[in-house]
Amino acid sequence: MRAFKVRAGGGLALTTDCPVPNPSAGEVLVKVRATSLNARDRLIVSDSYSVDVQGRVPLSDGAGVVEAVGNGVSRFRVGDRVVGTFHPTWLYGPFPGWGELRGTQRDGWLTDHVVLDQQSLVPVPDQLSFEEAATLPCAALTAWSAVAGVGPGDTLLVQGSGGVSIFALQFARLAGARVVATTSDDDKAERLRALGAADIVNYKETPQWGAQVRELTAGGARRVLEIGGAGTLPQSIEAVAYGGQIALVGNLASGNDMDVTRFFRRAATLKSISVGSRSDFEQMNEALGRSRLRPVIDRVFPFNQASEAFAHFERGPRFGKVVISH
Ligand SMILES: NC(=O)c1ccc[n+]([C@@H]2O[C@H](COP(=O)([O-])OP(=O)(O)OC[C@H]3O[C@@H](n4cnc5c(N)ncnc54)[C@H](OP(=O)(O)O)[C@@H]3O)[C@@H](O)[C@H]2O)c1
Repeated sequence: MRAFKVRAGGGLALTTDCPVPNPSAGEVLVKVRATSLNARDRLIVSDSYSVDVQGRVPLSDGAGVVEAVGNGVSRFRVGDRVVGTFHPTWLYGPFPGWGELRGTQRDGWLTDHVVLDQQSLVPVPDQLSFEEAATLPCAALTAWSAVAGVGPGDTLLVQGSGGVSIFALQFARLAGARVVATTSDDDKAERLRALGAADIVNYKETPQWGAQVRELTAGGARRVLEIGGAGTLPQSIEAVAYGGQIALVGNLASGNDMDVTRFFRRAATLKSISVGSRSDFEQMNEALGRSRLRPVIDRVFPFNQASEAFAHFERGPRFGKVVISH
C-alpha cells in the first residue's frame, strides 16, 4: 500500500510498498477514503513540530470504510463508514492529559490503510461524504468544544476564517447566537457574512479591533474564540464582555503583551480547549445530523498531490478545509 512519510528537514516522501497491516484483537482495519489538513499538520510536515516526526505518516484526521476487524470488535462491522478521533484514548469526561496522537507519536492517516483501536473511531454521519467527514476530528470538534453553551442572546467573536473559526461560526449560528468575525480579506468577509456573521472587522485595517467589536456589541462579546493566542489576546480582552469567556484555541499570532490588569477588570474567564473527547464528537455528530449542517470545504486534492495540498494550505488563499481524497 501507499503511504506518505515526513522527510528529515521537511516535506513528504511517497512509499508504495508498505504492507497492509492486520488488525489485532480490538482493532479495526480501515481503508482510508479522505483526510484533511490542520495547522498542526503544517508544522509536522515542515519538520518544525515539538517532537521528532521523521519517517512518520502524517495527518490526524481521516475517514474511511472498515475492511476487516480483529477478535472481540463489537463497535463496528466490515463496510461501516468511520471517522477517527483526534485523542485516541480520551473517550469521555474531563481532559485526561496528552496521550499519543496520530501524525506525531503514532502514524497518521496519509496512507491507503490504517489499523486503529475500535475505541478511537465514530460512525460517519449519514448525510456526510468521506471528504466532509474527514474535516471533523480536529477543527470541527475544537469549535464545538469552544462554543459549548453559546445560545440565543449571546454574541460570539471569531477570529479569521480558518478551519476552526468557520466551524465555530456555523455552530454558534445553529445555536441562535449572533456572530462577529474578524478577517484580513474583504472577499472572505463576504463569505463569512453569507455564513451568518452579522458584523465583520478587518483586523489588518483596524489593528485595535477590540474596541470596534466592543462598540458593535454594545459592551463586548460574551464569548471569544481565540485562535491568535499571545498576539491577539490583548484585543480579545478589549473585545470580551464583563464576565465573558475567551476560549483559548490557537497561537497563530505572536506577541507577549497581555494586560493582566485589564483582563482582571473584565472579570472574564480564559478557558483552554484541547479538541474534545469521543463523547463530545458523538454529540457534535448528532447535532450535525439534526441540522444537516455541512462543513465548508475549500479544495479537494487527489492523494498523489498531497504535497500540493500542503502548499495550498500554507500559501492559500483558502476559505474552509483543505481535503485529500484517497
Ligand atoms: N486547542 C486545540 O484543540 C486546537 C485545535 C485545532 C487548532 N488549534 C489551533 O488553532 C489555530 C487555528 O487553527 P485552524 O486550523 O483554524 O488554522 P488555519 O485554518 O490555518 O487558520 C488560518 C486563518 O487564521 C486567520 N488568522 C491568522 N492570523 C490571524 C490573526 N492575527 N488574527 C485573526 N485571524 C488570523 C486567517 O484568517 P483570514 O484569512 O480570514 O485573515 C487565516 O486564514 C492554530 O493555531 C491551531 O494550531 C488548536
